[in-house]
Amino acid sequence: MVVKVLNISLCLLIGLALRTACATESPPPCNSEIYCHGRLLHTIQMAKVYEDSKTFVDMKLKNSPNETLAKFDIFMKIHNNAPTRNHVKKFISENFEREGQEFEEWVPEDWVEKPSFLENIHDPSFREWGSNLNKIWRELGRKMKKEVERDQELYSIIWVPNPVIVPGGRFREFYYWDSYWIVQGLLLSEMYDTVKGMLDNFLYIVDNYGHIPNGGRIYYLERSQPPLLIPMFKLYFDTVKDMKYLADNIVTMESEFDYWMSNHTKVVLYNGKNYTLAVYGDRSRGPRPESYSEDVEMADKGFRDGYQKEAFYSELKAAAESGWDFSSRWFVTNATNKGNLTNINTRSIVPVDLNALMYWNAVILAEFNQYLNNTEKAKKYNEIANEWMEAVTAVLWHEEVGVWLDYDLINNIKRDYFYPSNIAPLWTGCYPTNDREKVIRLVLKYLQTMNIMYPGGIPTTKEHTGEQWDFPNAWPPLQHMMVAGLHNTDNEAAHRLAFEIAEKWIKSNYKAFNQTEVMYEKYDATVSGGHGGGGEYEVQFGFGWSNGVIMAMLDRFGDSLRLDDAPPKEYAEARHSAVVGAPSTFGQVATGLLALIVSLTAGFIGISIYKRRTSASHSAGEFLKKRVPSRAQYTELRSIPKRARNSR
Ligand SMILES: *[C@@H]1O[C@H](CO)[C@@H](O)[C@H](O)[C@H]1NC(C)=O
Ligand SMILES: *[C@@H]1O[C@H](CO)[C@@H](O)[C@H](O)[C@H]1NC(C)=O
Ligand SMILES: *[C@@H]1O[C@H](CO)[C@@H](O)[C@H](O)[C@H]1NC(C)=O
Ligand SMILES: *[C@@H]1O[C@H](CO)[C@@H](O)[C@H](O)[C@H]1NC(C)=O
Ligand SMILES: *[C@@H]1O[C@H](CO)[C@@H](O)[C@H](O)[C@H]1NC(C)=O
Ligand SMILES: *[C@@H]1O[C@H](CO)[C@@H](O)[C@H](O)[C@H]1NC(C)=O
Ligand SMILES: *[C@@H]1O[C@H](CO)[C@@H](O)[C@H](O)[C@H]1NC(C)=O
Repeated sequence: MVVKVLNISLCLLIGLALRTACATESPPPCNSEIYCHGRLLHTIQMAKVYEDSKTFVDMKLKNSPNETLAKFDIFMKIHNNAPTRNHVKKFISENFEREGQEFEEWVPEDWVEKPSFLENIHDPSFREWGSNLNKIWRELGRKMKKEVERDQELYSIIWVPNPVIVPGGRFREFYYWDSYWIVQGLLLSEMYDTVKGMLDNFLYIVDNYGHIPNGGRIYYLERSQPPLLIPMFKLYFDTVKDMKYLADNIVTMESEFDYWMSNHTKVVLYNGKNYTLAVYGDRSRGPRPESYSEDVEMADKGFRDGYQKEAFYSELKAAAESGWDFSSRWFVTNATNKGNLTNINTRSIVPVDLNALMYWNAVILAEFNQYLNNTEKAKKYNEIANEWMEAVTAVLWHEEVGVWLDYDLINNIKRDYFYPSNIAPLWTGCYPTNDREKVIRLVLKYLQTMNIMYPGGIPTTKEHTGEQWDFPNAWPPLQHMMVAGLHNTDNEAAHRLAFEIAEKWIKSNYKAFNQTEVMYEKYDATVSGGHGGGGEYEVQFGFGWSNGVIMAMLDRFGDSLRLDDAPPKEYAEARHSAVVGAPSTFGQVATGLLALIVSLTAGFIGISIYKRRTSASHSAGEFLKKRVPSRAQYTELRSIPKRARNSR
């Protein structure tokens, strides 16, 4: 098998010849000498005045950037270019306002008390919970003050015309891929105006910036997040059927797709044929402004020369673009996923989920253009979709494994590790119609052998690195991706498995909510009712995508779900054989039993961990603040500086 990377539209930094060109050509994350690069940012962030590096870059300036920079020059002279942490603190308080000042009180006007999806939830506890989740939207709404538009240079926030629903916690602004699951929940809550406002914001941003940044801050501008604007628009369009709105915005959506096509693709020569596939990247130099000192310290520890440090920063930012920041999924060490953050190689991995999404975007654009009678364009996007499916099937699908796998462009091999994203093509329909039966059968078998049915959900990976997109964390969008993917098929066993995953997820989230009255951004797969941790910023509450995913699952399965442990009749049979269909051969029965034993053991471990945790936590505050005790044994990166995750 011969594989070569031919075309590199991103600055890949692979050869010596490219080094200088790349390092000098990349712009900073944005032009601001306050929020994105320069001596002021460096001095303040390296003084580590705040627990979370994001705090400083979210503060509002009291004076113009030029005045502030002039004052900073004087400040540095007074302190002989070596101010202490207290000097820096004083400078900040004299020149900046507290973070989070760009918003005013706003309760969505289209909020309704009893959206009709609640009626289909049979279990009264779940129905009440659904109603509580509906209420949380009122707390996650954010509207920008008028002066943000007028005085944009005083803020890091990107001005958008309409109010938004944010994830929550330190994520004060919109986030790109989060919004897809938030929008699902909002549509179930019948908040159509809020959704349209959020879509209008995204379209406005594409028109003005060419693409959608990771989140709504200028320091996120040079990287995006998984491309979900077009699928998000489709969710709204399918509900509201507004043909004029579609006609008015189709060109903007096409230009967002263009951004991905022109700046995120590589041509991969595989088995003698060229295929175009998408990868994550970043187009800026320097550390992430919102995790500045963490990035700088890590780079200093891991790398000596400036070029290597720059490449490292780019890999970190590319991982942030993927949404999986950070994860062993992006580590490449001796052609494996071992190692630590210094082994990150995001830009050299062809991810299954991103390519499944590229296919989906093309399919939806073809469908939209068909509605608008743009036959030529519909044809063009159908061709792109077909090419993408062909490339995904040729390079990422592995019949002998029974699933799609990420591809390592450094070592030219498949990355045979479990990730929920491995089955993303089921979610977006990115596999040939003729092979449906076979593909689903193989995928179900693959999932069975992976033993991933943990009591608190499907884990993100099987690696215990201490990073937050690794074991044992379980993330809402990944549960949804799997459930929706399995449910999209017309296979009975796949439907049962979808139900089983959803049931576990719902019960675990419910338990946590019942005990602590909050929804978390991530959960612990090993403990039903346990919240996630790792990555070393405190677990956040709110939480946009968690609520959206639960609402979508309650909407889909709420008619047969019960809080009490007895499974509903129609799903009772073959609960543990769902993954293999009806066990008929000895081998299948044996595998089924093995899976049962493993899941019981996992459950047992979960229970004992849970007991330890409850006895160790004395107050709710302490319980929430402390890192989950169950994770301590997995944390192998103690010496690594505190990492602040900036994105979702
Ligand atoms: C800020 O200073 C720079 C360089 O000193 C100058 O080019 C720019 O016009 C100034 N901006 C404003 C708004 O005064
Ligand atoms: C691709 O990136 C370049 C800068 O590297 C930018 O100028 C160009 O507009 C981008 N293309 C699209 C379609 O956004
Ligand atoms: C693949 O594309 C490259 C240019 O990007 C070209 O030089 C090469 O001949 C192509 N190979 C095949 C097999 O099409
Ligand atoms: C990678 O391979 C080298 C050479 O074989 C070896 O010295 C090193 O320990 C390996 N690293 C890991 C993390 O396995
Ligand atoms: C991370 O990996 C590198 C090389 O792969 C190693 O030298 C370094 O010690 C590791 N860092 C930590 C904190 O384990
Ligand atoms: C597309 O063409 C059909 C048939 O001519 C017509 O009925 C429909 O209104 C057209 N749709 C749009 C959006 O123009
Ligand atoms: C938790 O469960 C108990 C018992 O079912 C119920 O009375 C209570 O209202 C629930 N609390 C929350 C916040 O859901």
